Amino acid sequence: MKLIYLSIFLIPFIWGCKKDKIQNYPNANCSDTVSFNNEILPLILNNCTGCHTNQNGYTLTNHSNISSNSTAIVGAMRNSGYQLMPKGGPALPDSIIERVECWVNQGKLNN
Ligand code: HEC
Repeated sequence: MKLIYLSIFLIPFIWGCKKDKIQNYPNANCSDTVSFNNEILPLILNNCTGCHTNQNGYTLTNHSNISSNSTAIVGAMRNSGYQLMPKGGPALPDSIIERVECWVNQGKLNN
């Protein structure tokens, strides 16, 4: 009996996590799978890592630290809740930011 109550209690959490993982940026239109190594990593290395290798609050150098900071990264690229990055602008093209959003939506694959 206790187990049943526990299960009912846990369902919204499990469901919530699942939905979160699949759809973080509902407006991003992703028809193909984003490659972390071919698209996301070079994009971050070219535009961000010059100022964020263990400085200015963020280290953005590999899959692990880019994944764990993805909300701040997209927020800064979109200037939504975070200061616009790259610092001083201009903002990156929309189509590029969308690739990062798609990558998050697809579960931040290390591919
Ligand atoms: C020219 C240097 C420079 C570049 C390039 C740069 N940043 Fe920054 N970033 C900074 C500095 C400096 C700060 C600390 C805040 C400040 O003093 O402006 C910062 C802060 C941030 C923050 C925190 C902002 C906030 O509002 O809390 C995030 C997130 C961030 N950067 C992500 C990025 C991303 C993603 C890129 C690439 C698209 C990037 N940065 C490129 C210099 C840079």
